Amino acid sequence: MPWNPDQYHKFQSERAAPFYDLLALVDVHENLKVVDLGCGPGELTRQLADRLPQSDVTGLDSSPEMLEKAASFARVGLVFQLGDQARLSGAWDVIFSNAALQWSENHTELIPSLFSRLKPGGQIAVQVPSNHNHISHQIYRETADEEPFKSILQGFQRIAPVLTIDQYAQILFTCGAEEIVVFEKVYSHVLKDSGAIVEWISGTALVPYFERLGQHKERFLQAIHEKMHTALPDSPVFYPFRRILFSARKPA
Ligand SMILES: C[S@@+](CC[C@H](N)C(=O)[O-])C[C@H]1O[C@@H](n2cnc3c(N)ncnc32)[C@H](O)[C@@H]1O
Repeated sequence: MPWNPDQYHKFQSERAAPFYDLLALVDVHENLKVVDLGCGPGELTRQLADRLPQSDVTGLDSSPEMLEKAASFARVGLVFQLGDQARLSGAWDVIFSNAALQWSENHTELIPSLFSRLKPGGQIAVQVPSNHNHISHQIYRETADEEPFKSILQGFQRIAPVLTIDQYAQILFTCGAEEIVVFEKVYSHVLKDSGAIVEWISGTALVPYFERLGQHKERFLQAIHEKMHTALPDSPVFYPFRRILFSARKPA
């Protein structure tokens, strides 16, 4: 999927807030082997690495474009690698992932698979967006279901694989995890107008649609802009953003 790091970066300060909440869940020790799944453009992975002294941190991402940006944040103890987060190999003290696992399907299998990659005593810490029922998401799904987009997209829709907080807690318990923490939080963003929300989702949720729309992308975006302006005419506009955070430890 062709990610655009510059588009993604436009809301960096808003996107960083849940990262800091997630980072606060990670127990700080020395000499850890750490992976950041879906590390993106790398600056937050660098902050994770700087927080964990003497540790070996790997930022893993499937996007060459993102990894190209991330390269400038590499240092001794921090490397970036191309790879699929759903096929993680190796054994890790910390498996960290901020706003990336929602791009891999079937969390009922994915989370146990990742958990199995923890060393005894290791910790998993994950943040995934859970705002897929926000009006902005309803509008792009509705637009994708209308002609001419439905035909161009051949009926494609991306349905978020994100589960409920209860389900994540149950999965972690079934894995035998200890110190299970799962919560959902609404991040209150105030953006310029509905157009800014469209800009925001253009860097994330709309990426798989853009990939399939080719030259029709601008028309699709225009249709979404118009519907969003009708639905959310205020300026500034309030953008409540729900996210799920969880952390758990494998018994030592
Ligand atoms: C929303 S960005 C999050 C980036 C970064 N973690 C942050 O917090 O800013 C999602 C990232 O997940 C990556 N991604 C999506 N699917 C992936 C997969 N199957 N394996 C590895 N990375 C993936 C994308 O390339 C993108 O860089």
